[in-house]
Amino acid sequence: MNKTLAANTTKRTMTLTDNTTGKSYELPVISGTTGPDVIDVRTLYQDTDCFTFDPGFTSTGSCESAITYIDGDQGVLLYRGYAIADLAERCDFMEVCYLLLYGDLPTADQRRKFETDITYHTMLHEQMHSFYNGFRRDSHPMAVMVGVVGALSAFYHDSTDITNPRHRMIASYRQIAKMPTIAAWAYKYAIGQPFMYPRNDLKYSENFLHMMYSNPCEEYKVNPVLAKAMDRILILHADHEQNASTSTVRLAGSSGANPFACIAAGIASLWGPAHGGANEAVLNMLEEIGDVSNVPEYIKRAKDKNDPFRLMGFGHRVYKNFDPRATIMRQSCHEVLDELGVRDEPLLELAMELERIALEDEFFVEKKLYPNVDFYSGIIFRAMGIPTSMFTVLFAVARTVGWVAQWNEMIEDPTQKIGRPRQLYTGPTERSFVPLERRG
Ligand code: SDX
Repeated sequence: MNKTLAANTTKRTMTLTDNTTGKSYELPVISGTTGPDVIDVRTLYQDTDCFTFDPGFTSTGSCESAITYIDGDQGVLLYRGYAIADLAERCDFMEVCYLLLYGDLPTADQRRKFETDITYHTMLHEQMHSFYNGFRRDSHPMAVMVGVVGALSAFYHDSTDITNPRHRMIASYRQIAKMPTIAAWAYKYAIGQPFMYPRNDLKYSENFLHMMYSNPCEEYKVNPVLAKAMDRILILHADHEQNASTSTVRLAGSSGANPFACIAAGIASLWGPAHGGANEAVLNMLEEIGDVSNVPEYIKRAKDKNDPFRLMGFGHRVYKNFDPRATIMRQSCHEVLDELGVRDEPLLELAMELERIALEDEFFVEKKLYPNVDFYSGIIFRAMGIPTSMFTVLFAVARTVGWVAQWNEMIEDPTQKIGRPRQLYTGPTERSFVPLERRG
């Protein structure tokens, strides 16, 4: 399903010298098709009896991948070589899903068949209804999504043999197809409304909005502007290299766990406010700030090392320039608010003022803290009537194709092995056991 490019092992090496022993070690340097080269340290431990040390993996490449490329300094994001702005402007989410999974944009026939295959996998096993009933009505929908996605492996045994390419494809399609249904049903369950079944005559994003907002009592017409905005948001969130949740999916998958369990692990990681939970945290932060007059106080808190408060929606591990997705999202935000006639949305005004002040403040300039993808998505979702607790759920719906593409790439990588990092041990060395009667 994936096309990985063999990395070029150049003749370039780097020399590591142990100043104590004077011994030197030649480490090969490997170049990809673009972006930073990597120093191959796979034999370092056996050669030097030392591990590398990089908590948070700020300087570590965990794998070879041909799916997504990010240049954080230039604010570049490419899916299989195509610029995110082009894809967001000229594709729909189904085309981008095909591109991420197969490595090329689909022909008209490929696109038609792919979309049909996905459409005909959007239903959930009828017994999953009772699975929802086990949750409290006020459960966070992310808790429901983690549980229901993890349970898919209990319903779809016929596609969990990860060594079988056909099983991997079926599981991949099922996961992408069923996420909108799982997400919409989590919302319906929370508000006590009946589940709405997917419709095969609707496109992916329209179908999601239909399942979110239709009810058995009246016809619901999907607003095409909102469906287009939703589709674009899904495209912008579809994949993002080796972020925390994708790395979680890869690590879970490296043990041979079934794909549904791996995606459930990715959803759990995405939930954190430092990652996919940031869009929900941005809205909560804007509501806490409340008024533009309070912005300086919160900017001050964000700069205070002793204050754990951070400006949610700002900063990024990789982007030290504008997150290209935030730029596109900002434009979408204005389109949606204009369409819905909520131009004077106070939270948008507050967000724009917060962005303006932050971008002029030397602390944020010096630390290169720009708005990221989550800064505007929450405002669009809120304008579309989506409850804050569902924001990260939508991020998970979008990111599923990225997780699935990266999982397949890992399984198909002939060099793949179980991920098992080591550590710098700073605990007690071996000591004699002290029986209870002689303690304290
Ligand atoms: C996503 O990885 C991905 O690609 C993620 C993602 C994807 O598509 O998968 O892009 C999606 O997760 C976007 C990020 C959403 N998170 C937020 O908006 C939460 C707020 N942002 C921060 O928590 C933070 O910026 C991170 C977690 C996003 C990045 O943190 P890093 O790279 O580990 O940077 P850091 O924490 O080391 O911060 C560097 C400095 C620190 O100051 P010093 O210790 O150097 O003095 O910048 C400061 C931080 O205190 N800083 C912030 C800040 N973010 C970083 N200060 C105030 N407000 C912030 N938002």
